[in-house]
Amino acid sequence: MKHITCIEDLRQLHKRKVPKAFFDYADRGSYTEDTLRANVSDLQDIKFRQRILVDVSKRDTSTTILGEPAKLPLILAPVGLTGMQHGDGEILACRAAQAAGIPYTLSTMSICSIEDVAANVDKPFWFQLYVMKDRGFIKALIERAIAAKCSALVLTVDLQVIGQRHQDIKNGMAVPPEWTLSKFVDFATKPAWVSGVLRGKRRTFGNIAGHIKGMEGVTELGRWIQEQFDTTLNWNDIAWIRSIWPGKLILKGILDVEDAQQAAKSGAEALVVSNHGGRQLDGAQSSIALLPEIAEAVSTEMEIMFDGGIRSGQDVVRALAMGAQSCMIGRAYIHGLGAGGEAGVAKAIDIIANEMKVTMGLCGVNTVAEIDERVLTL
Ligand SMILES: Cc1cc2nc3c(=O)[nH]c(=O)nc-3n(C[C@H](O)[C@H](O)[C@H](O)COP(=O)(O)O)c2cc1C
Repeated sequence: MKHITCIEDLRQLHKRKVPKAFFDYADRGSYTEDTLRANVSDLQDIKFRQRILVDVSKRDTSTTILGEPAKLPLILAPVGLTGMQHGDGEILACRAAQAAGIPYTLSTMSICSIEDVAANVDKPFWFQLYVMKDRGFIKALIERAIAAKCSALVLTVDLQVIGQRHQDIKNGMAVPPEWTLSKFVDFATKPAWVSGVLRGKRRTFGNIAGHIKGMEGVTELGRWIQEQFDTTLNWNDIAWIRSIWPGKLILKGILDVEDAQQAAKSGAEALVVSNHGGRQLDGAQSSIALLPEIAEAVSTEMEIMFDGGIRSGQDVVRALAMGAQSCMIGRAYIHGLGAGGEAGVAKAIDIIANEMKVTMGLCGVNTVAEIDERVLTL
């Protein structure tokens, strides 16, 4: 990975190494992809204030996230089907995060199960929950996360209805992958992916398969998942989850000040300002456009996390300057995973860490706590 210098290089390698259906699943967004593009471009429009002749010899990117020490203000976001980008993808990404001293979040829609990841990594990780209609299953899932010693529950609240990604339909995206002729040709040019994913033992939704009676077959399972997203979900359900989950609770997918104020009263310790990486409400504003007002409204009551569009360490510094205390990355590490497994995720984190350090230096700050609007030219 000597010549990989930025996240875009990892993205190009990911594109070459992973079948089109799975690369596009990660890379693309919903409908016109307006919000997906805005996430990235609005971050890039934020300009830094260069400062000179400040002693920046003691730069330190470390911080605390929900009271725990972290080497960077960075978290690996929950990403469904990570194990389809690389065999055992969830385990590898979690290991890379733990080696780098940052939290990893396992998605409900993962390929490797909670138990599988817990058995193969050294430290606790975070678990992301989608609340489904089958509340018995959800209660059992939370109990499994407790038994696996997950250190935070990330409750995703922006997926009651599902935004359509046109490209997934065009590509016939399916889990496990279907062997159509065009896919066969695609797979034939990606031998490393085939030996990791297609020949691996983990090829379905690990947290769900085998845990619902009558859902042993993949077709039934797919149908069950589609039908299970619950349009009735509301704040009372958050209270129910709060009553079962004893640990730290994070509400992910908040994009509105009134919702943030309600979240602050819900008993959750943190929220994530997020539009699901431009995969849900197309036409919504970028996450970064809404971050300052949400931070202003509730940052004294809860921790403010941010995601959407982060492709560099500069972007992390921008988000911190606009009011976030830490940032989640989705695609940036998934590109690393697709490009090179665990080493690729480590590379993605390392690129961001180094870019952060240089940006901090050129803005004249030494610590994460010093990063505020003064590093920007607003
Ligand atoms: C391929 C993919 C799958 C995702 N799956 C989930 C998921 O299962 N649960 C969830 O809460 N968010 C999911 N997200 C959203 C991410 O957690 C995160 O909000 C988003 O990726 C941030 O934007 P970024 O990719 O620009 O960093 C997914 C994102 C991507 C790209």
